[in-house]
Amino acid sequence: NADVSNAINDRDIVAVMNKLGQNCVVMYGSQTGTAENYASRLARESKKRFGLETMVADLEDFDFEGINSMPANALVIFVLATYGEGEPTDNAVQFYQFITQETAFSPEPDSLPLGNLNFAAFGLGNSSYEHYNSMVRNVDKALRGFGANRLGEAGEGDDGRHTTEEDFMEWKENMWRAVAAKFGLQERETVYDPTFSITELPIAREDPKVFLGEANKMHLKRNIRSPFTGQNPYVATITESRELFLSKDRNCLHMEIDLGSTPGLSYETGDHVAIWPTNPGEEVDRFLTILGLQEKRHQVIGIMAVDPTSKVPVPTPTTYDAIARYYLEICAPVSRQLISTLAQFTSNGDEEIKTKMNRIGNDRTYFQELTGSHCYNIATFLGIISKGAKWLDIPFSVFLEGIPKLQPRYYSISSSSLAQPQTISITTVVESRLVTNGRFRGVATNYLLALKQKQNNDPNPCSFGQSYELDGPRRLFAGIRVPIHIRRSNFKLPSDPKTPVIMVGPGTGVAPFRGFIQERAKQVQDGVSIGRLLLFFGCRNATEDYVYESEWEEYGRVLNDHFNVITAFSRQTSPKVYVQHRLSEWAKEVNKLLAKDGYFYVCGDAANMAREVNATLVQIIAGERGVSQTEGEEIVQVMKAVGRYQVSNIT
Ligand code: 2AM
Repeated sequence: NADVSNAINDRDIVAVMNKLGQNCVVMYGSQTGTAENYASRLARESKKRFGLETMVADLEDFDFEGINSMPANALVIFVLATYGEGEPTDNAVQFYQFITQETAFSPEPDSLPLGNLNFAAFGLGNSSYEHYNSMVRNVDKALRGFGANRLGEAGEGDDGRHTTEEDFMEWKENMWRAVAAKFGLQERETVYDPTFSITELPIAREDPKVFLGEANKMHLKRNIRSPFTGQNPYVATITESRELFLSKDRNCLHMEIDLGSTPGLSYETGDHVAIWPTNPGEEVDRFLTILGLQEKRHQVIGIMAVDPTSKVPVPTPTTYDAIARYYLEICAPVSRQLISTLAQFTSNGDEEIKTKMNRIGNDRTYFQELTGSHCYNIATFLGIISKGAKWLDIPFSVFLEGIPKLQPRYYSISSSSLAQPQTISITTVVESRLVTNGRFRGVATNYLLALKQKQNNDPNPCSFGQSYELDGPRRLFAGIRVPIHIRRSNFKLPSDPKTPVIMVGPGTGVAPFRGFIQERAKQVQDGVSIGRLLLFFGCRNATEDYVYESEWEEYGRVLNDHFNVITAFSRQTSPKVYVQHRLSEWAKEVNKLLAKDGYFYVCGDAANMAREVNATLVQIIAGERGVSQTEGEEIVQVMKAVGRYQVSNIT
């Protein structure tokens, strides 16, 4: 990890492993932290189960020219998320460019520069998208092309069809079998030994060294400076929040977030904003209560890594309350792996519960039978299986190891930086999905909903709102404020305003397009001439969830006949009408605009929508231009390759 490579001041992965006496490295390409979390888990397992000397490495921290000197008794595991349209994650860009060049190691013809390299690979992707798991596929192909020896299958986690967790569990068992066979390893009896030690400290919670939700040391010292990144958010004020619609189980929020004139903080139309959420009060209470920590919740604790190659995942010193509230994903569905680790800590050694939990670890079907579609989080699960009895014997390190860090969530900015440079808008639906034993709620969206309710002093907050500590001890964050950072995106309007633009954005997929349209309206007001804008918008019902309807009318008055909104209301008719059906009806116009070098954009996460829109566009082009289906596909591929067809699932 970064600390390790800085400490020994070397970017050569093989040299670093030699210096540290490691024979296994788990390298990750991670955008939102999931791949990083799997990498840490694999590293711990490799040490504990097989006794390998293992380190974790951020791909960004190393160069790979020297990887061809990796010794034959070493193992390299890659955990690689695919990002956006089949792209590497930001931290994996350089590695990816390097390893996919044919001349990466300037080999002699027919030589196999990586003939000694033993590797395993797992990818994270989503099969609803076209370039499914392309990172792991391409890296695997490149490595094997250089003669590297893969152990086990190249695993593909699918966040679309099932869960990445299940795919991961299945892949890793096969992978470890192959690794054990190759290196002749004996699996060790896994008695849990904690990676982190926790010490109660005689420090008051009010002491300014204690982390109570702050992101890093700078924040702790109330010294918040750019660059604002995934490690260092800016605490922004929400200046306005309102409901675009409110129905029984869904609530759509529009918020305006002030960037001020903060140096180093700016955005461009089409960028994303990361929101750093807080866990809801009732889930924090549930978690601390089932572990018997509610009395000690504000006790200041220090956390140290027992094993110096592991990094403490939360800032320290801190408190149990702060960890549960601000640093861990305690609301996420519990993983089978965590359940099987916890089996050894059943209270009074309850054999029945222990057997059940061990079985869950090994038997996916059994787990599904027990939990159905409940999406139990860790605390709910423990409470149900023990019938409410507390779990007093679990070392807290288990949770630091087994529950991922609370991650920021990304939203498409729904405003134009030309029209409002210092204020960003976001548009998001808060959904409350009822499951038999409670509700499964989005962490960040519900946090935003709570901020909105507080800001507007809602007399009758909607029924699924949750309680949050909004003025609590998290000193810097009190009030209607939210930690954010801006992430650049490639989802950008064409630079020539006269270029026609076609946008397909059902639901909150419309968010970035509100920014696009606001931008063109501002340009018209500034006297710029612009090209045609078509927006295909879909929702359930014209009277229920048609967002920004009145804004389109206002922009329409500025944009005149340059702008059309074409709506598809899916639940007004049978059969359903979707955006792709409307697109077909507009085939002539769509083709005409694309023939004039128009740009085509799709945004949204409705199941299969992007795929079906793609197929419709191929048909339109084939039909209107009188070419074959294959030629139509090629034209669409070329549009994508040159950036004239862009797809985003960040809504
Ligand atoms: P539905 O929920 O009635 O099926 C925003 O979510 C809109 O996208 C809704 O009207 C939703 O319709 C619709 N939608 C769902 N699946 C879709 C798909 N495959 N293609 C296009 N729109 C879809």
